[in-house]
Amino acid sequence: MSGPNDSYDPKEVAALSDDALSGAVDAGAAAFAAAADLDALAEAHTAHLGARSPIALARRELGALPPQARADAGRRVNEALAALTAAYDERHVALERDRDERVLIEETVDVTLPWDRAPAGGRHPLTLIQERVADVFIAMGWEVAEGPEVEAAWFNFDALNIPPAHPARETQDTLWLDPPEAGVLLRTQTSPVQIRALLERGAPCYIAVPGRVYRQEALDATHSAVFHQLEGLAVDEGLTMGDLRGTLDALARAMFGPEARTRLRPDHYPFTEPSADVDLECWVCHGTSTEPGAEPCRTCRSEGWVEWGGSGMVHPVVLASAGIDPQRYTGFAFGMGLERTLMSRHDMSDIRDLVEGDVRVTAAMGREA
Ligand code: DAH
Repeated sequence: MSGPNDSYDPKEVAALSDDALSGAVDAGAAAFAAAADLDALAEAHTAHLGARSPIALARRELGALPPQARADAGRRVNEALAALTAAYDERHVALERDRDERVLIEETVDVTLPWDRAPAGGRHPLTLIQERVADVFIAMGWEVAEGPEVEAAWFNFDALNIPPAHPARETQDTLWLDPPEAGVLLRTQTSPVQIRALLERGAPCYIAVPGRVYRQEALDATHSAVFHQLEGLAVDEGLTMGDLRGTLDALARAMFGPEARTRLRPDHYPFTEPSADVDLECWVCHGTSTEPGAEPCRTCRSEGWVEWGGSGMVHPVVLASAGIDPQRYTGFAFGMGLERTLMSRHDMSDIRDLVEGDVRVTAAMGREA
């Protein structure tokens, strides 16, 4: 039986020699430092700290050593292991930090970028037509005027030569505000702004008034309780129906193109004398559908003209209500429905498409009202 092998020197076991251990530490530290990313570092970990790495093999040798020798060798192996682990940990922390910084940049979400699944929509065609009309009149040197939608009956009716018993008060299906005897209503037309403008500005006066009006109507394909009108008023010395005609033609051409033509047809309005309805020459058949044997025209029902609005020379009583001397001044006025204008021009048959604000309608029509 042999005695304990006191002279056994673990440094002579190849795997446990100082050279081998420091070589393993140097090789591992170099491999960790050279790892360019976490995947490469994981491979280096397997090679230098894994189950079959030199340091693991060295640890396994410890078990075969006699106890005294094992203590010294164990200390050196543990030091080498700690050095390797520290080198690995340091690199791991650095590579994780690099990755986190890169991910923050690469995966940044720019919340201000346009999102192509959000429909762009369009401005409402009624807004656009009101702006266009305003531009046309401003270019002619007129002003754009506005008035309240909640209006006094005196402005909406009396001053416009529509006295209390006048049938126009019923035909316009007025929406009265409570209490009815207060005489406050939702304006049924933009004509009251004629009176307000004359009272404020005096003569001469050239104003265009695009605005919203209200009538007691059930919503159907051709009626809406809320709609829009364009009112025009010119008061000056020496104005005639020729000026009215010229203004309407200029408006028609500016809105519908150089070929647009208008026609005046006698009618009656309490606030104008004489009064005339304004027709637009049919922009589809240009009147050809009225000739014998011609193709019928859907747009004008083969009449050659489409009704556009009302007009006339301002009634002297109206001028007087607004404090203007009818001996010195004359004036002309006109009013047309803007929904009607849009519907005719775009061949629309249902006013609800303009009222409901469906983005498919506004996006399609919104750019070329
Ligand atoms: N205010 C009229 C209506 O709502 C339209 C109108 C007709 C306006 C003749 C006018 C005009 O200025 O002269 O039916």
